[in-house]
Amino acid sequence: MFFITTAIDYTNGAPHLGHAYEKVLADVIARYQRLRGEEVYFLTGVDQHGQKVQQKAEEAGINPATFASKTTKLFLNLWKKLGLQYDGWAETTDERHKACVQAILSDLNERGELYKKGYKGFYSVKQEQFLTDRDRNEAGEFGPEWGQVEERDEENWYFRLSAHAEWLKGFVEKYPDFVTPTIRRNELLGALANSSELDLCISRPKERLRWGIEFPFDTNYVTYVWFDALINYISFAGYRAKEGSNLPEFEKLWPCAAHVIGKDILVPAHGIYWPCMLHAMGFADEEMPKILVHGWWNRKNEEGKVLAMSKTFGNVVDPDALADRFGADAVRYYVVRDITTGKDADFDVERLIMLYNQELANELGNLCNRALNMTARFAGGIVTTVSEAGEDEVKLRASLEAVIGEYRVAMDAYDIAEALKAINRHVTQCNAYAERNKPWELAKDPALKPRLDAVLYHLVESLAHCAVLISPVLPDPAARIASQLRMDDLLSLKLDDLKWGLVADGHETGKPKPVFPKIVVEEEEGEEIG
Ligand code: ME8
Ligand code: MG
Repeated sequence: MFFITTAIDYTNGAPHLGHAYEKVLADVIARYQRLRGEEVYFLTGVDQHGQKVQQKAEEAGINPATFASKTTKLFLNLWKKLGLQYDGWAETTDERHKACVQAILSDLNERGELYKKGYKGFYSVKQEQFLTDRDRNEAGEFGPEWGQVEERDEENWYFRLSAHAEWLKGFVEKYPDFVTPTIRRNELLGALANSSELDLCISRPKERLRWGIEFPFDTNYVTYVWFDALINYISFAGYRAKEGSNLPEFEKLWPCAAHVIGKDILVPAHGIYWPCMLHAMGFADEEMPKILVHGWWNRKNEEGKVLAMSKTFGNVVDPDALADRFGADAVRYYVVRDITTGKDADFDVERLIMLYNQELANELGNLCNRALNMTARFAGGIVTTVSEAGEDEVKLRASLEAVIGEYRVAMDAYDIAEALKAINRHVTQCNAYAERNKPWELAKDPALKPRLDAVLYHLVESLAHCAVLISPVLPDPAARIASQLRMDDLLSLKLDDLKWGLVADGHETGKPKPVFPKIVVEEEEGEEIG
């Protein structure tokens, strides 16, 4: 079992490209694990409580519940458009989640993990946290990153985070695979070494914030949004679920949880608060989740570029508009192809168009078109596998075998871009092989029929493999290729089933239809992109 989650997105505004990237990345990983034959449960969702949502709702003149449910719809629509295949959907206003958070609060309180005390200090509304002197800059002030800072004097509930700090240090050191990649793990180790953890304020008085989960034993308070949000990973996995809640069986999912998150929420939320919360609840070291940290999509700030993107396409970094303009396949492909998992990248619409047109329309699309077209025209659509294979065929098979190996290594390391490059290497080999062997020439001489059959077969067989390999990233195009190949069961194959001989002798292939229609940029648009 492989239980994969994403961060739950704040519903204080519309989804942006960073949100789309993370969800597609997790979807690709989930689909790849299914391809490996793993049973997978993929959980994603939205983070609906907190001051930011309350504030945005006030600005919009509506109540927070209405506001959160409106923005939630934007996320749901986008995930549908981008073809995410998730098994569970987490909304933090869900009664089942609220009940779980309250049960955990009561339990922690009984275990002596919580206490109430007065505190006078500075509070960042933007970051929703109390600040300490450590948060001041060199000038002794709270910098602009904290936004509006208010002085507050109030009583609140605290979680004894400090009581788990020593355990956490030991745990992170002992389990190198707790955080991937290593640079992020080091960042966490650095943060742990440099700080003496303070206890965590986990309540907000209702006079200030109404939009949250009420404290079960002190109803003048609601729960701090991060404490509420992190719990989604277990509440929606069935932790302490009531009979008939229609949630998964927790024991089945939890020992194998992996959280996919962005680099900004590792320290302190996922790297410090969350394992300490779990530890306080009684989770053992072996029951801690793994964390995969991805980088950020940034937007180039060069003059001209930003302007150019916004005019014709609207704000093209809006993933919804991007998908409408270029198609969901182009967006899915771009967000995992042009970034290395763990690193940052600059969004560039020209690269999106170029990568799609070059690698999909011109290469894979071309392979599909010519393999099926030539099989139809020169062999009546019939694949003959027992044919005259020579040196060039041996080379092509070796290329495919090598590529499957490279693909597997890259995907196992979450390096989707490398895996795609590996597929592309084989596709390029296939197209060069077709150019070299010229089936259209072979077809002219009946004596060369065995050679012709061999070349067509090697193209079709390669295409079938490529469809399976690319299916985690591009499930719909993979299905279109499978259907044009008339291999309806192709995509139920597992990675280990991929070996030469997927196409049966005498198999009849279908007609090609463009799988990746080329993106044509109108002249006017071109100038503006340019
Ligand atoms: O942090 N590029 O929500 P969020 C890549 N609700 N990823 C990005 C990004 C970018 N430009 N901007 C944001 C929250 N992200 C909390 C999470 S989890 C219990 C609660 C990522 O909507 C970000 O790193 O601000 C995070 O993983 C996710 O998008 C949601 O960010
Ligand atoms: Mg954020």
